[in-house]
Amino acid sequence: MPDLFAPIAARYDFANHILSGYRDRAWRRWVVKRAAPKPDECLLDLCTGTGDLALEFARLCPELEIVGLDISLPMLQVAREKLIRLGLENKITLQQGDALHLSFDDSSFDLVTVAFGVRNLPDRLQGLREIYRVLKPNGRAFILEFSLPQSLLLRSLYLVYLRYFLPNIGGILTGSRASYAYLRDSIDAFPARAQILCELHELGFRPVGYEDLTGGIATLYWGGKASC
Ligand SMILES: C[S@@+](CC[C@H](N)C(=O)[O-])C[C@H]1O[C@@H](n2cnc3c(N)ncnc32)[C@H](O)[C@@H]1O
Repeated sequence: MPDLFAPIAARYDFANHILSGYRDRAWRRWVVKRAAPKPDECLLDLCTGTGDLALEFARLCPELEIVGLDISLPMLQVAREKLIRLGLENKITLQQGDALHLSFDDSSFDLVTVAFGVRNLPDRLQGLREIYRVLKPNGRAFILEFSLPQSLLLRSLYLVYLRYFLPNIGGILTGSRASYAYLRDSIDAFPARAQILCELHELGFRPVGYEDLTGGIATLYWGGKASC
């Protein structure tokens, strides 16, 4: 499968900030707050991309052991340069890998997070299954994803932005309109919240839940792994 993120890796962060109206950092901080990591825990950030969620965890909980995994080398390269610039290269281990076939043993992590990555997986259920497998008993998964607002008015306005403005603005900011047309289509096609909860539940996560952010433009899902 072609690496859709390679052409936009260098401009990804900038485009993210502009296209989300600078909400993306607040959303990631919210994930850290909800995850409430303890200092001796270990975290796997899947589809870590340029590493922004892993970085928020490292800033807010410096004792945490953090692994950031992504399939795209150009995205990881941007993450690596950022870690060095911020002097955090010893806090986060970056690793190339496929979220659908993780090399980690069962029950390896207290926390697994994915920000804006589950939507991109060719087999979402396999990705969620892998998350469940590598979580320790009592571990927690947090999945941040774009979604469509539940209010009809907001949804209509957002769909206009998504369908008519986002690919063009994203194209201007990064030089790759195709990547942002893909973003539009993948947000549009992403299943309803109830479906994601149902999938988490069927895979064994307990409890499961979600919370809408910024009017439902983004949604944070969570699922726990019960103790044996
Ligand atoms: C929209 S970016 C999100 C990056 C980052 N988590 C963030 O919050 O900005 C999606 C990332 O998922 C990665 N990705 C897509 N498929 C993957 C897979 N099978 N395994 C690991 N990473 C994958 C892409 O390379 C890309 O970096």
